[in-house]
Order: sequence, then C-alpha cells, then structure tokens
Amino acid sequence: MAMGSGSGGTPARELFGSKWGFVLAAVGSAVGLGNMWRFSYVAAEGGGAAFVLLYIIMVILLGIPLMLSELVVGRKTHLSPIGALRELGGRGWSYLGMLFVLVGFLILSYYSVIAGWTMRFAVESAMTGFPGDPGDHFSEIAAGPAAIGWHLFFMALTIGIVMIGVQKGIERAAMLLMPTLFLIVVGLAFWAATLDGSGAGYAYYLTPQLSELMNPDVIRSAASQAFFSLSLGMGAMLTFASYLAKDEDLNEQAVTISFADFAVAFTAGLVVFPVIFALGLQDSVGESTVGALFIALPGAFEAMGGAGRVVGVLFFVALAVGAITSAISLLEVVTSSIIDEFGLSRRRAAVSMGILIALLGLASAWSTDILGLVDQIAGELLLAVGALLMSIFVGWKMKDPGAEMLRGAGPRFAGAVPYVVLLVKWLLPPVIAVVVWFQFWATLAVVRGFFGGG
Ligand code: TRP
Repeated sequence: MAMGSGSGGTPARELFGSKWGFVLAAVGSAVGLGNMWRFSYVAAEGGGAAFVLLYIIMVILLGIPLMLSELVVGRKTHLSPIGALRELGGRGWSYLGMLFVLVGFLILSYYSVIAGWTMRFAVESAMTGFPGDPGDHFSEIAAGPAAIGWHLFFMALTIGIVMIGVQKGIERAAMLLMPTLFLIVVGLAFWAATLDGSGAGYAYYLTPQLSELMNPDVIRSAASQAFFSLSLGMGAMLTFASYLAKDEDLNEQAVTISFADFAVAFTAGLVVFPVIFALGLQDSVGESTVGALFIALPGAFEAMGGAGRVVGVLFFVALAVGAITSAISLLEVVTSSIIDEFGLSRRRAAVSMGILIALLGLASAWSTDILGLVDQIAGELLLAVGALLMSIFVGWKMKDPGAEMLRGAGPRFAGAVPYVVLLVKWLLPPVIAVVVWFQFWATLAVVRGFFGGG
C-alpha cells in the first residue's frame, strides 16, 4: 500500500526522532490543564474518591482501547486525521476527520484562555506574591482585556513551537518540559503531606462514598474526563502516531501514556486536596465553577506566607508547562490537516490556523460564560461524539485492526489484543453512545442557561 499517498503531495513526512520522543510528546498532549485543574474540580464535584474510582475504570475500559484505536489508524496511514480516515474508510469517513479539526479549533480557543490565567499567576505571583483577595482578583483577570493579552501570548508561544516542526519543536519541547513537570508535581505532593490538617483532604480524596458510584452524572463526567485528559476523540493521538517511523509496540505505549496521564492527575489531587482542606477552603471548591481552583489555591498559597509563594509559583509553572505541551497537540491536529489537505507549508499552516484560533478565543477571553459554553459543547459533547464515531470506525469499518495492533507488539500485551478488539467493537459504541446521550442533555441545559441567563 502506498504510504502517505492520500493527498496534498507534500514532501516526505517528518518523523519523531526516537521512541521516547513520541511517548513524551503524547504524554505531553495528555497531561495538561485537564490533569491538574479539571481533574480536581470534577473530582470535587463527583464526591472525591468515588469519582476517582470510576475514572480509573473508564481509563482502563474506554480510554486505553480508544487510544490504541487512534494510534493504529495514525501509524498505518501516516496521514493526518482527514486523510487517514479517507484512506481507510472512504470519503464519508473523512468528514469525521473534519469534525476532529473543528473540535481542535474550538477546544484550543478556550484552553488557551485558561492557560493564559495560569501563566499570569505563575509570572505575577513570582514577582509580587499571591493576591490577598483571590476572589476579586480572579474576577478582574478572568475576562476582558486582561485575559486577552495572556491568551494571545500563550497562542503565540504555541504557534512558535508547532511552526518549528515535529522533531525540533514538538519533540524537543516535550523532552524538556515533561520531566520538569513530573518533578514539580511529585515534589509538591511530598510537601503537601507535611501540612497540618491535610488528613481531611486525603480522606475526602481517597475514601469513596459508594452512593456516588451509580450517579449517572458522575459516570458521565468520569467518562468525559477520561476522553479529555487522554486527548481522545479528536484525532490528537492519531496525528502524533502518524509521525511514527518504526513498528513500535503501540499496546505498550498506549498503556504507558494512559498510566502517566493518570499518575499526574492523581498526584495533582494529592497536592490540591490537602492544600484546600488544610486551609478550610473546601466549600469554595464544592461550588466547582470553572474558576474555583483559581480562587481557592491562590488564596491558600497566600495564607501560607513565604513557603506558599514558592510552592504556589511552582504549581502554576507546572500547570502552564502542561498546558503548552497540550496546546501544541491541539494545534498540530489542525496544522497537519491543513498541510496534508491543502499543501501549505508548515509555517504558513501553523501561523494562519493559530491566528484564527486566537481570534475565536477572544470570545472565551471576553466572558467566562462563553468559555464554559464552548467547553461543554466541544470539550464534553463533541469529544464524546468523536470518540463514539472513532470506536465505530475502528471496530466495524477498518479492516483487521487487531493485525495492526499486533504489528510490532511485544509479548507483554499481545495476548490482550483480541480482547481489546472485542471491547472496541462491542463495549465502546454502546457505552459511549450513552455518554453522548447524557452529554447532549447536559449541553442543552448549559445552552439554555447561557441564553436564558442573559
Ligand atoms: N489532554 C489535555 C489535558 O488534559 C488537553 C488536550 C490536548 C486535549 N489535546 C487534546 C483534549 C485533544 C482533548 C482532545 O489538558
């Protein structure tokens, strides 16, 4: 089969330089605001430990099979999502690739705004300390001109890295930034254990209230958190795998990436919950709006004096670092599709698409209600739709996905492949369809609230 013959006529595809370069770039995509900000706040919303338990189940049953599905499609075709799905599934399926590009557009547009808040906290608190009135401070910086500047700055950084290319830009950034982030997060977790009163935080985070396990809202949000955190449902993993040169063991890599992503989210919870509970701020997180952590944590760091300042700056630096490597992957899906479909140079594709996304993001930077709306539509509903269609594609349309999963597979996970194929065929479509159903109603409620509430 002709490799990369889909379209575009672009020169030879650039590839990752090493296995670890790919793995770290994929981990970089997965680990981001989703792990350190979204995970803690949906976990708080979902009753703490019960959510964590459901989340682990979702990662194993839905996340890893879906990740493997994306990886095999990308590696097999060496094309970005639109071309890959066209090559394996015909013209009709290429529309799914277009949906992926659209979702990448939408998610990055508001992700960058939140990343902008994060960078601002990192830089400003390093210089002048954390604000004494975190609630007021947050409402000042979260929306309007103040948010727009940092959003544009963050987008410029993202564009700069994607523009440079896969090896010198994306891979290098991940190799440098990811270990930094791991060190910071683990260090912070050890520090949090020394706080007086951290016990209540651990108790909340680690002792499940079993009643929440059957709550459909919590189940839905655990599934959606898995898609978001693992960067699934919009072709990000597919795109990265399209830059894989050799027949690597994709099973092992899917497990490694998913485990690393979970480990960071879990460890971040080991920082967030003790800090919040040690300072008696749990109520402010219980309300769980988008901004809760951006108010509670700075408040906590401020209350801790000098140590809080150091720790707080590190925390926000880690968040910003995670956000950059994730944003890179979102922009890369869009960029690589434009390169493949229209034959643009990487530079032009990254800059033009990045600017369009930055402009779209002005809406989310202008109002946190718009941000919440776009997050619900793209980050929750459309990701679930994308995940559903992707599982149907790999389970039912793609020829012999199992053979592709076995290509390069080492002995450790090869035995599991037939079961993974069964999961993708029979478990994922119905379960994710239920998630889509709930997300549809949740989205409708948010849309109504948005227009009803003014
Ligand atoms: N996974 C990232 C996070 O946890 C966000 C992200 C990057 C993403 N690429 C994605 C989410 C693709 C969904 C799809 O912050």
